[in-house]
Amino acid sequence: MTNLRFGLIGTGFMGKAHAIALQSVGTVFPAVAAPKLDCLVDADLGRARNLAAAWGFARSGDDWQALCADPDIDVVDICTPNHLHKEMALAAAAAGKHIYCEKPLALSGPEAREIWQAAKAAGIRTSMGFNYMCNPLIGLAQEMIAAGELGEVFNFRGSYQEDYLSDSRSPFSWRCLRNQGGSGALNDLGTHLINMAEFLLGPMSSVYGSLTTVHSHRPDPTTGDLRAVENEDIAQVLVKFAQGSTGTMEISRVATGKKCGLDFEVHGTKGALMFDQERMNEIRLYQVDDAEGRRGHRTILSGPEHEDYANFCPAPGHGLGINDLKIIEVRNFLNSISTDTAIHCDFQNGWRVQAIVDAIEHSHLNQEWADVSEGQLLK
Ligand SMILES: NC(=O)c1ccc[n+]([C@@H]2O[C@H](COP(=O)([O-])OP(=O)(O)OC[C@H]3O[C@@H](n4cnc5c(N)ncnc54)[C@H](O)[C@@H]3O)[C@@H](O)[C@H]2O)c1
Repeated sequence: MTNLRFGLIGTGFMGKAHAIALQSVGTVFPAVAAPKLDCLVDADLGRARNLAAAWGFARSGDDWQALCADPDIDVVDICTPNHLHKEMALAAAAAGKHIYCEKPLALSGPEAREIWQAAKAAGIRTSMGFNYMCNPLIGLAQEMIAAGELGEVFNFRGSYQEDYLSDSRSPFSWRCLRNQGGSGALNDLGTHLINMAEFLLGPMSSVYGSLTTVHSHRPDPTTGDLRAVENEDIAQVLVKFAQGSTGTMEISRVATGKKCGLDFEVHGTKGALMFDQERMNEIRLYQVDDAEGRRGHRTILSGPEHEDYANFCPAPGHGLGINDLKIIEVRNFLNSISTDTAIHCDFQNGWRVQAIVDAIEHSHLNQEWADVSEGQLLK
């Protein structure tokens, strides 16, 4: 077993979540070789130094290019704003490093494809940060759907809603800029939902999107001057899946009161499933075969019977948290590297999700359905 040496770029929200996962994965999953937290890089060197000491990294720096070229690094872990992913991933791939990258993979489908192709040519292993699908209950949902427990599945209704920009006075950030965030709610939140929908029901075949910017201007955090928002606050999407289901997706960063509202319902001929990330340790199942007068959604709590849960806790109903999903994500990636096999959330998947985001934007601009079959996206 090789203890892979990780170089992590970015010390914000996700940088900390990755550091916690890298620290903990060997304790939670003793079968994997615990990674070495080798070098922590941030544009702010003082912050990198302080947090390297606090988070257990051996070294720190402010030069991500040097990190990518460093022969003592095996894996480059990218937790920086969206527009930096491409340059960093291409440099890491060119140096033959495995890459773990936060979502979205890039700002557009063509950029994401370039990164995926570079990683493929370099023969490296890759992982995206689509953490929500690592929930043991999402694995259960996928297994139940695949095994036909819901019968023929004919509808998916999903949303990912947060309210971090619902107040028009919330400051302008890189997420509001096309050349730094890409699309708005779609790139930030929609990428998780698209990935989740396809994990559960298989590939989408076409999408029809409608995008809205609710707050057109926001105050610059430094000057207070109003700046024009360049991307959407809300995306509403009609979906058709290759297996025949229809669906809808609603994605919003201005959904007042919603904090992490990634939720979905799946409807089939024999039953239905409901999930809400704000109650991530519960899934609700409805079965049409229950006796009349006894039918209703029953709540299944996460527990050691569900894959990976027992590694965290022997008792049912005690619950996992978001950082635990990151630990599972890192375990999946380490296994992918050690066995040299692809995982679901690799860069090919990151590209596909990004290409679907582009297709939704195209559909909105042209007011027409957009074909998202693999053949069409690869044209
Ligand atoms: N998977 C998830 O659930 C999830 C949640 C939040 C964010 N994200 C993604 O993670 C990424 C980072 O988001 P965040 O919320 O952590 O952002 P953040 O603003 O909290 O942190 C970004 C970090 O990158 C650093 N940075 C910026 N430019 C740099 C450079 N040139 N060199 C080195 N460091 C640099 C900043 O100093 C900061 O520490 C984004 O792509 C975002 O979409 C994913």
